[in-house]
Amino acid sequence: MKNLLPQSVRIVEVGPRDGLQNEAQPISVEVKVKLVELLAEAGLGCIETGSFVNPKWVPQMAGSEEVFSSLRRVAGVTYSALTPNLKGFERALESAVSEVAVFTAASESFTRKNTNCSIDESLSRASELMTAARANNVPVRGYVSCVVGCPYEGVIAPAKVAEVASKLVDLGCYEISLGDTIGVGTPASTEAMLSTVLQAVPADKLAVHLHDTYGQALANIYAALQMGVAVVDSSVAGLGGCPYAKGASGNVATEDVVYLLNGLGIAHGVELGKLVQAGQFICDSLGRENGSKVAIALQNKA
Ligand code: HMG
Ligand code: MG
Repeated sequence: MKNLLPQSVRIVEVGPRDGLQNEAQPISVEVKVKLVELLAEAGLGCIETGSFVNPKWVPQMAGSEEVFSSLRRVAGVTYSALTPNLKGFERALESAVSEVAVFTAASESFTRKNTNCSIDESLSRASELMTAARANNVPVRGYVSCVVGCPYEGVIAPAKVAEVASKLVDLGCYEISLGDTIGVGTPASTEAMLSTVLQAVPADKLAVHLHDTYGQALANIYAALQMGVAVVDSSVAGLGGCPYAKGASGNVATEDVVYLLNGLGIAHGVELGKLVQAGQFICDSLGRENGSKVAIALQNKA
């Protein structure tokens, strides 16, 4: 089994964006900045630091400019931001982001709720953004949400995911992150989805972005690793959820992904002890329980 697995995995930490965007209580710029800095110190090389969406839609991300400008950046670390349109890209550029991510979904209803447009319109916004990104040498990642299930439409056909993912590749996204936004996937549905998507997009252009609502995310990541996917999105302490996917819990906890990869002997570059400290810092700041089983276990042992 082991030789089917990748030798190394790139972890994309989405906690400061996906983890915090849904948080109702105010979070200071200082706390957000400290979280990003602690994550970089723990060895995370890709950190989704904020988003430049309409602040009326997601008030918690309104301070992303301040977060980027206050940040002490570590050379070699990618500090990215989510951008839905050209206006978001222009704000991101002003903030000297390392890269941006566009987002759409394999569900019309979710796209409408999340971005107030159809899938095709979201792709044409992405296309316009991409022209500007190319002119400014900014790499663009693409997200497809609802890759196995949608809160409004139920089961999603793998062929639709493959179609949207390959359109994003054609537009110029260097990587497509496949989002199980509401965490309903199992290894069987994840494998079925991936085997269809892999016919259109090669594994080295894919990432998985799995929310853990039903506790299946680690099993689904293991399934994806066996299919050649070597980029995993995760959120420190399992923070988060999507404001337009009611009841969806946070992403799989980064600490739990690191523990899984350690057990499989797969390189990732993250120091688990420092990562646990970063997770505990944000949980204490928010007054929340830690959503990582690994963090809880390690802290109980200490
Ligand atoms: P809209 O209201 O249809 O936009 O929103 P509009 O173009 O009609 O403009 C309305 C107003 O918004 C205008 O201002 C624009 O200037 C302003 P006004 O004239 O009324 O004063 N505006 C902006 N302001 C700041 N930054 C911008 C921006 N764009 C327009 N970028 C829009 C369309 C897409 C902007 C809106 O629907 C939006 O911001 N949606 C984002 C929702 C979001 O952030 N969702 C969570 C992230 S996605 C996610 O979590 C899933 C993911 O994790 C993967 C997974 O788990 O599956 C990625
Ligand atoms: Mg997400």
